[in-house]
Amino acid sequence: MLSNSLVELDRAHLVHPVASYRGHEQAGVRVLKSAKGATVTDASGHQMLDGFAGLWCVNAGYGHESIVEAAARQMRELPYATGYFSLGSEPAIRLAAELAERTPGDLNHVYFTLGGSDAVDSTVRFIRYYYHSLGKPTKDQFISLEQGYHGSSTVGAGLTALPVFHAGFGMPLDWQHKIPTHYAYRNPVGTDPQAIIAASVKALRAKVEEIGAERVAAFYVEPIQGSGGVLVPPTGWMKAMRDVCTELDILFVADEVITGFGRTGPLFACSDDGIVPDLMTTAKGLTSGYVPMGAVFLSEKVYQTIADGAGPAAIGHGYTYSAHPVSAAVGLEVLRLYENGLLENGVKAGARLMAGLQSLSSHPLVGDVRGRGMLAAIELVVDKERKTPLPAAADPSRRIFDRAWNNGLVIRAFGNGVLGYAPPLCCTEAEIDAIVERTAKTLDQTLNDPDVRAALV
Ligand SMILES: Cc1ncc(COP(=O)(O)O)c(C=O)c1O
Repeated sequence: MLSNSLVELDRAHLVHPVASYRGHEQAGVRVLKSAKGATVTDASGHQMLDGFAGLWCVNAGYGHESIVEAAARQMRELPYATGYFSLGSEPAIRLAAELAERTPGDLNHVYFTLGGSDAVDSTVRFIRYYYHSLGKPTKDQFISLEQGYHGSSTVGAGLTALPVFHAGFGMPLDWQHKIPTHYAYRNPVGTDPQAIIAASVKALRAKVEEIGAERVAAFYVEPIQGSGGVLVPPTGWMKAMRDVCTELDILFVADEVITGFGRTGPLFACSDDGIVPDLMTTAKGLTSGYVPMGAVFLSEKVYQTIADGAGPAAIGHGYTYSAHPVSAAVGLEVLRLYENGLLENGVKAGARLMAGLQSLSSHPLVGDVRGRGMLAAIELVVDKERKTPLPAAADPSRRIFDRAWNNGLVIRAFGNGVLGYAPPLCCTEAEIDAIVERTAKTLDQTLNDPDVRAALV
């Protein structure tokens, strides 16, 4: 009864992110009620392993009392402090300092946001200001990768290269350019890592030449493309792209909104890639989704240039909730948990997850298994040789998602038949094994669908 009335209220009033409004009205909401560790429970009492950590964000797992305590303590003491007028709060200052100590290289300056989209949006403003400070205001063209996702803000959605974020919105803007993705499974140059790296380097150089190096401001990448289908670049790809940007005097922006905070193993994926970006964005795992927060990290070069460029004038970029003390208090506690065993557990659990998913490679529907750490995907096909995707009628984002749900597993089922995994770092071995087993069951059931059977080669 309660649940039904919520469904009606939701249908009438709550607009959902990235949803078909009509489709959602028809399907109705599924209300999540509670969660603990890696398990979520819906309003009917059905329990599932959350193989996607909410929206790849609850890296620490659910139900940590110490995080709740940290937030409650901060709310009692000082629930809000602005950063305007040179004011501040202790947790925000401490979090900035703790993070700066751990970020790669000289990414020493932190601007806190409310999430990933406004972190990306902030980088665009900082980068524009940086070049104005250098007296190069026409260095204002931005390049990103096909299949990339950089959020849903008014300008960030144009750095994003997923059609659904463009169609009907008049995106991308004319200063936002794309080069092909590294997508190893479907790369026209084949699967050889060196060939993929060479092709991306060539594409970036060609794009810069086409626009003019004196016009190109920045290049954006995710260390692993998340929303594009968990696309893992070959080892050395990030470094090669970073080197091209350094050579051509283009700022390199690493968008670590998904990959940050243990998702791929270390605190930041850039450390594994052995690179230091000029700017880096994070969110999600920063607070493990318990409260909203994102962050932009600025290198010394970028920060000092902006500061000198402005001199005594204010730099007109700011949010009411930047460096929110409650979010910062949560961030500090989450960081403590990561470093007190969660990162370590994530590395072990990630290896087990990858091995478990690899063991499904021989399933007739599994074309590719990829990932790093606790970020993984399997790509379903009906013809392994030709890599033919599931037929549209299979409607993976609905049918496979629902089926996994009924089997006690939450995954991200992309429309093209890619299944995404990003479980909480706290997962036990038994939970990882259950994620794999429930996936296998879901795949077997899908194999029995008449439309899939008919398409299968
Ligand atoms: C790489 C990347 N950048 C930016 C964003 C946007 O973050 P948010 O949804 O917190 O605005 C996301 C969200 O998934 C992301 O994956």
